[in-house]
Amino acid sequence: MASAAGLGYSSVIERNWFALRQHEVPVLRPGSAPVRILHISDAHLTPGRHRLMSWLRTLEALEPDLVVNTGDSIAHPQAVGPFLAALGPLLDRPGVFVYGSNDLYSPKPRNPARYLWRTSAEEHARDVDDLPWADLGAGMESAGWFNANNRRARIKVGDHDVEVAGVHDSHIARDRYERIAGAADPSADVRLGVMHSPEPAVLDQFAADGFELLLAGHTHGGQIQLPGTGPLVTNCGISRELASGLHRYPGTGADSEPWLHVSAGLGTSPYAPVRLCCRPEATLLTLVSGIS
Ligand SMILES: [Fe+2]
Repeated sequence: MASAAGLGYSSVIERNWFALRQHEVPVLRPGSAPVRILHISDAHLTPGRHRLMSWLRTLEALEPDLVVNTGDSIAHPQAVGPFLAALGPLLDRPGVFVYGSNDLYSPKPRNPARYLWRTSAEEHARDVDDLPWADLGAGMESAGWFNANNRRARIKVGDHDVEVAGVHDSHIARDRYERIAGAADPSADVRLGVMHSPEPAVLDQFAADGFELLLAGHTHGGQIQLPGTGPLVTNCGISRELASGLHRYPGTGADSEPWLHVSAGLGTSPYAPVRLCCRPEATLLTLVSGIS
């Protein structure tokens, strides 16, 4: 009885109990105007998730200067239109996106607890990409969002000159950091690294190239957390302490370390529709002046 109530709570209530997280990130030069970045990730949208779509539509009211989507946006062949519609006027703002593995591969019914003892990377190796990821990308690109999958660019965000580099999902070995490698430009106002899976091998390269704010998703914050112990897994190589939220990476205490924000994400796989002590979220990151 208690476990049934817990399942009902985690699948019906907490899974639809969306949270807006907010952090300040001190990466701008002294005297710079703030930059508001809305970070969304891991919507795993299916056309029936009306509460999720309704909440996404409210985020335009935050008036972000830039929207960053770190992937796993869809989980259904007919989800592209609803996802773009839910973004709505956010698409008229500057935006950046990368894909996650679940934008390419439709979800399969599997034991949802399996990720406690193995990652899902090897499962995708035998699959054929069968979701309309190209249509999804075309929808965001045609609105003017930058496709950052193994690509690098300068984008204008208000009066700020932002250098952006991103990789496709390393979880399925689609990342090609060599295509974007090279020192970040110190004359840019912000240097932003974007990826789906926050794998240390990728994070280390962004850090070595001087990108000072790294945005990722994928972990779902562990999706299930136990009170007092935090997430059980990250489903990638980073430590459980970094599974969600804003931290310095890797966390040695050096001032030169980049900031890493890992989104706990908006959704879940349709076949693991539970969240426990890990509410679905979007995050407003306000970049402010740091200490020079
Ligand atoms: Fe995901």
